[in-house]
Amino acid sequence: MCPMQPLAQLDREAWRFINSVSVITVCVDGVVNAMSAEWCAPVSLKPPLIGVFVGEERFTRPLIERAATFGVSLLAEDQAWIGRACGRYSGRAVNKIEAFRIPIEPAHYIEAPLIAGAAAQFECRVVDRRAYGSHLLVVGEPLRAVGNPAKRAIAYSRGRFYALGTEIPVDESVLEAQLLEGERR
Ligand SMILES: Cc1cc2nc3c(=O)[nH]c(=O)nc-3n(C[C@H](O)[C@H](O)[C@H](O)COP(=O)(O)O)c2cc1C
Repeated sequence: MCPMQPLAQLDREAWRFINSVSVITVCVDGVVNAMSAEWCAPVSLKPPLIGVFVGEERFTRPLIERAATFGVSLLAEDQAWIGRACGRYSGRAVNKIEAFRIPIEPAHYIEAPLIAGAAAQFECRVVDRRAYGSHLLVVGEPLRAVGNPAKRAIAYSRGRFYALGTEIPVDESVLEAQLLEGERR
């Protein structure tokens, strides 16, 4: 068996986390930008809240610091290229949506567009912001949340995109038996 090894450098390459891939869209004073985010996840069910962590060097950072709303589009299996385009290039240098012809559609409640054809889309109102080291956590309440049942979200780990693989079955009856045995002891 391969022994555990110290994660000497806690950077993206060293981490073993697996995340979904969202594209965060913002529109402030007519400037529209789209940024890939793997650090984007639900933070509460009641009320529904979504959090995204935005690094200090991102062009998105000063925009989302001022934005009242933002969009979250969960990328689907045919959209890894969008994750790469919006995650490798900065809106500071290029209008990514135009240059890469990113498919967008207007949102219902927010100014920023959403990624068309995504697995799910959320239109969020900013309810909180808090800086944690290099990243700013922006928490949003979805004003509208829609999903496409025909599309599957993708995963991202250590710089690569993946489709979800084989389900790993868990035998619940073994757990229940262990629980009963523990109670008897
Ligand atoms: C798949 C993927 C996920 C990423 N996730 C995040 C993230 O969660 N937070 C973040 O700040 N940057 C993340 N990045 C890096 C930014 O997307 C990248 O620096 C991007 O160029 C920033 O765009 P902007 O300068 O236009 O805001 C990610 C990059 C990729 C490719």
